Amino acid sequence: MPPTNQETNMKILIAGGNGLIGKKLAALLEKSGHQIVSASRSSGVDLVTGEGLEEAIQGIEAVVDVLNSPSFEDQAVLEFFQATSTNLLRVETAAGVKHHVALSVVGSDRVPDSGYLRAKVAQENLIQAAGVPFTIVRATQFFEFAPGIAQFSMVDGRCRLPAATMQPVAADDVADCLARVVSAAPRREIVELGGPEKIRLDKFVGRYLTVAGGGHEIEIDPAATYFGASIDDASLVPQGAAILGSIRYQNWLDNRRF
Ligand SMILES: NC(=O)c1ccc[n+]([C@@H]2O[C@H](COP(=O)([O-])OP(=O)(O)OC[C@H]3O[C@@H](n4cnc5c(N)ncnc54)[C@H](OP(=O)(O)O)[C@@H]3O)[C@@H](O)[C@H]2O)c1
Repeated sequence: MPPTNQETNMKILIAGGNGLIGKKLAALLEKSGHQIVSASRSSGVDLVTGEGLEEAIQGIEAVVDVLNSPSFEDQAVLEFFQATSTNLLRVETAAGVKHHVALSVVGSDRVPDSGYLRAKVAQENLIQAAGVPFTIVRATQFFEFAPGIAQFSMVDGRCRLPAATMQPVAADDVADCLARVVSAAPRREIVELGGPEKIRLDKFVGRYLTVAGGGHEIEIDPAATYFGASIDDASLVPQGAAILGSIRYQNWLDNRRF
């Protein structure tokens, strides 16, 4: 991962600061001496309506957006990322924020069947058009997402999945990457982050189910979808030079209690 070049501590707003990535990122940045403002509904900031945002942005130098939509229904998720990014970028422009960092998904522009990924592309487009200096980090699937994929793909106790290649990454590596990115100058581009190893989707979920227990069977089905979208070996894997996390999936599984 690139070294940080930040010499002074900053006041950083984390949109979604109490989520999976937000909490880990806040801890890392606080440890480095930055002052963190966490913005989420539980801290009194609703980024869909804009409630509490004008107050929260006061004195902020950089923003990291690690929000996620409470609903993954196509229209709801599109409206969520459009509203939250529009509200954030509007107040950032007025407040002179120097760096907007956002977390997106590797392959978001390669899986047009996915309403969720179309919404992430809409979010990326808003960021690139807004004029606030930015860095977009597209990450691959988090190790922590394995239960969610298993749950979605389960039919009558069998997990039906396509055998597509993926390159998942630990949430700790994602937070570490975002901490480095926000501590450096804006890159005004999209950068990709993946895990250290490629693995087939069915093996990724299968290894999680083996450790978590429950005796579920995995069925490889080329016609099965990934959250309703057709995917192939290129869909979810970084295509160019990507930043790589260091945590291996088996080590992560071995050190987790399910
Ligand atoms: N899962 C994956 O494998 C994966 C892979 C690559 C990229 N990503 C991206 O990673 C990002 C973060 O994911 P995550 O799993 O860390 O999310 P998460 O744990 O679900 O956290 C979502 C955060 O959004 C906040 N939030 C929701 N609605 C809000 C609203 N109206 N106003 C203000 N805050 C709101 C939540 O706090 P409150 O409930 O308190 O409001 C929470 O802090 C997402 O953008 C996702 O696209 C995920």
